[in-house]
Amino acid sequence: MKTRILSADVEIPYLGFGTYLIADDEVAAAVSEAIRAGYRHIDTAEGYQNESGVGAGIKQALESEGLARSDLFVTTKLWPGNPAWGQPAKTTASTVTSLNESLERLGLDYVDLYLIHAPFDRDQRLAQWRGLVELKRQGKARAIGVSNFSIQHIEELKAAGLPLPVANQIELHPWSQKPELVRYLNDNAITPIAYSSLVPLSTWRTAKGQDSAKTDQMKAEGAQADAPFKVMAKKYGVSEAQVLLRWAIQKGYPVLPKSTNPERIRKNADIFGFNVDDQDMAAIEKMDRGDGVAWTTGDPTKAP
Ligand SMILES: NC(=O)c1ccc[n+]([C@@H]2O[C@H](COP(=O)([O-])OP(=O)(O)OC[C@H]3O[C@@H](n4cnc5c(N)ncnc54)[C@H](OP(=O)(O)O)[C@@H]3O)[C@@H](O)[C@H]2O)c1
Repeated sequence: MKTRILSADVEIPYLGFGTYLIADDEVAAAVSEAIRAGYRHIDTAEGYQNESGVGAGIKQALESEGLARSDLFVTTKLWPGNPAWGQPAKTTASTVTSLNESLERLGLDYVDLYLIHAPFDRDQRLAQWRGLVELKRQGKARAIGVSNFSIQHIEELKAAGLPLPVANQIELHPWSQKPELVRYLNDNAITPIAYSSLVPLSTWRTAKGQDSAKTDQMKAEGAQADAPFKVMAKKYGVSEAQVLLRWAIQKGYPVLPKSTNPERIRKNADIFGFNVDDQDMAAIEKMDRGDGVAWTTGDPTKAP
């Protein structure tokens, strides 16, 4: 199974390509490499400031691979504005404008999935979600969802009588498994999409300027010769990254590995030919440490 059902008429590929921290002038090459390597889902965001380059990469690859737009699944995200950081929060109207601007940069007529990037502003969350509902009605987004929302944030939408999101993109990996949130999402037919799947690797976001809340101690742990994912990788004859990605899809989570290294891009896509066995799945279950580490500012699901 290479896709998961998102809604009645939309399926999401389990394998997606992440583009956070890839500069606009570098991302076209990475995206077209990914599509050539078999990725059919590309994840970007207004906040990544690389939608133009992502659009250029998509265009190049569709032409060179002889693919149709409908062969691809494209996600982008509304930057909702965060008053706590001195940014105005978007309203329903400016939410609608934002996707139109994203589409223009991407060179697309529609996206497959449009997400609210984070639940920053208590007062505008519902207004922003109403904007997404309108954009779906207009056919600009085939499916709509959220990112970094907690149970309480989704319950707000429910209480307002609004349609529920079909996906919640959240930080999910063996060190941040969020069992209660995942159970709630699955019970409410909301697909959990995993980001930052590769956090446990010692090589995760080590380049300058790619800061996160991951501590140096955590980086050192992944580098140890007997690090658990190294042992499993050896057992299955794959890379540690492939083990982490395979674990996620066995849990039912679409993944979005990011890389600018063509060799890694290709290997990260090769996750359908082996299984993490029950014993290792059970061992990984015990590795949960709680909150995520991908944001420098702390876990955004804790937003008010
Ligand atoms: N909604 C949100 O708030 C949110 C937050 C974070 C991320 N995301 C999305 O999820 C995507 C993935 O998350 P992420 O970018 O945080 O991290 P990630 O994909 O888990 O990991 C990327 C890091 O791992 C390295 N890496 C990739 N493949 C590797 C391999 N095979 N072996 C060793 N190292 C490898 C990359 O370096 P190289 O590039 O040098 O290979 C990079 O430093 C993002 O790009 C974005 O699309 C969403």
